Amino acid sequence: MVPGESVLNVLERIFETQDESLAFGGGCGRGRCGACGMKINGRYRLACGEVVKGDLILEPSSKGRLIKDLLVVEESGEVHQNA
Ligand code: FES
Repeated sequence: MVPGESVLNVLERIFETQDESLAFGGGCGRGRCGACGMKINGRYRLACGEVVKGDLILEPSSKGRLIKDLLVVEESGEVHQNA
């Protein structure tokens, strides 16, 4: 873990180095688009704005339909996928 690293950064690194099948939402990386929304330790958060501070329990957002892993399609039908 890199100090100050966001949850989204960790997911991207896992995707790039360990598991290309991991699905999660991503987009702006600046807290603007909302595509990386998920439950982090039981609370809805933006993965790009949440700094990793210890153990994490990640769950998909309940604000849409689950596609795979942490990837959810919004009620509008829009999908923001990491790859
Ligand atoms: S990637 Fe856009 S809000 Fe997190």
